[in-house]
Amino acid sequence: MDDNPGASEPTPAIAVEVFGPRLPLAEHYARMLTDEGVLRGLIGPRELPQLWTRHLLNCGVLSEAIGPDATVIDIGSGAGLPGIPLAIARPDLRITLIEPLLRRTTFLEEVVAALPLPNVTVVRGRAEERAVLKAVERADVVTSRAVAPLERLAKWSAPLIRGGGRLVALKGKSAADEIARDWEKVMRLGIRDLTVEQCGTMLETPTTLIVGRRNESARDSRVSRKSDRRN
Ligand SMILES: C[S@@+](CC[C@H](N)C(=O)[O-])C[C@H]1O[C@@H](n2cnc3c(N)ncnc32)[C@H](O)[C@@H]1O
Repeated sequence: MDDNPGASEPTPAIAVEVFGPRLPLAEHYARMLTDEGVLRGLIGPRELPQLWTRHLLNCGVLSEAIGPDATVIDIGSGAGLPGIPLAIARPDLRITLIEPLLRRTTFLEEVVAALPLPNVTVVRGRAEERAVLKAVERADVVTSRAVAPLERLAKWSAPLIRGGGRLVALKGKSAADEIARDWEKVMRLGIRDLTVEQCGTMLETPTTLIVGRRNESARDSRVSRKSDRRN
């Protein structure tokens, strides 16, 4: 058994390639996860020895898959992954974190205020809830990590993606199998061209993504919002 499961991984040299001059913000977030994150049960102490390699870097490199000035919704952010590392690496993005659990959104608000990250908004709720759909604008990209199998993820993500926008889900080895199993159902939800992509190829373990595109013609079929009423 590991004698010291809580020892936090020191910042690896490669982190500067991912976060550039904003690396101190990533280190601040790492400290918050190590301290309050563990105390409040938001991240397991056994994750700390791989905090950078498995979590911060793997999520930060997602920035390679997202174009300039995009709007992003991260579904099921938990303690902030991948949304917070992405917001640190890419201050040009406008990111909304959607998370239902209060103790997680409380921590996320604290991270956003402490770093600070003015490009991040936290919304408490489930992605499929009417109140959440009303509260957020559809985004260019909807991200997620470890939230649900592909079909359910597509069901929750599709209404939040603008026509022509993309679903970008961080997945592990299961990515190709999930596409083979679910692509027809996902296509019926209005998301097509599913592919497996990789980013962070400079990392020991690159990040595997499932990427799909929302149909161009996808109308916002959700409950009417202020912007709809204006048009
Ligand atoms: C296994 S955790 C993953 C958290 C984080 N994405 C990560 O990779 O560390 C799944 C998260 O999804 C959230 N979640 C579950 N169902 C959801 C839904 N319908 N909408 C939004 N978030 C949801 C949970 O509260 C939880 O924080």
